[in-house]
Amino acid sequence: MKILKFSSYEEMSAAAADIIAKQINVKGDSVLGLATGSTPVGMYKKLVEMNKSGLIDFSNIKTVNLDEYYPISPSNRQSYRYFMNDNLFDHVNIDKANTYVPNGEAEDPDAECENYEKIVKSLGTVDIQVLGIGQNGHIGFNEPEENLYLYTHKTALTENTIAANSRFFTEDEVIPTSALTMGMGTIFSAKKILLLINGKAKREVFKQLLSDRITTACPATLLKLHPNVIVLCDSEACGE
Ligand code: PGA
Repeated sequence: MKILKFSSYEEMSAAAADIIAKQINVKGDSVLGLATGSTPVGMYKKLVEMNKSGLIDFSNIKTVNLDEYYPISPSNRQSYRYFMNDNLFDHVNIDKANTYVPNGEAEDPDAECENYEKIVKSLGTVDIQVLGIGQNGHIGFNEPEENLYLYTHKTALTENTIAANSRFFTEDEVIPTSALTMGMGTIFSAKKILLLINGKAKREVFKQLLSDRITTACPATLLKLHPNVIVLCDSEACGE
């Protein structure tokens, strides 16, 4: 893993956007693996600015997202489809037919997971997969467990994740307790992985990334086995 430290969230986000922009400019029909949550919001903002000023072109880009709550309607403002439209897709020249997020209102979640895995494979190799990290070390919704899954699957969210995500929900909104997520193998098949980590709340999990251990109790530690991972962190997350 290559670790790049930035003094602020803004600098980290700009650097992440630059890496994505270079990828888009080298290969106009890249496949981008995208993430939701508060972490990549700054990066998406920069990418929208770059697209508006003509520096990058999304017209032939394809995207696959890591995960989606289940069950949830794509029109629900808490859904990850809504998040992606709101933070990126509605503001750049991407063809929405080329953007994939697991369907949170599929009747048969297992069939949807199987179908999603096929979609990811049909696009060819993901050129860059963007990841955030949970305080509990999850990537996508691969939660700490004795056994992790290789492929896209339905999963229950841990108490820790539900509590961490509750900050996005108003009192009268129901917080989902399950999700559909790419598996560790789906994520690992990407050529390059960009892991973004910011804020004090991630300091403990960042330390686990620096140790020489890997454990399914902190799924992100398995990224040490991937040959091409860049970790971008701000100084609040990585300390000294
Ligand atoms: P956050 O979530 O960016 O909102 O901290 C990251 C994650 O849970 O993967």
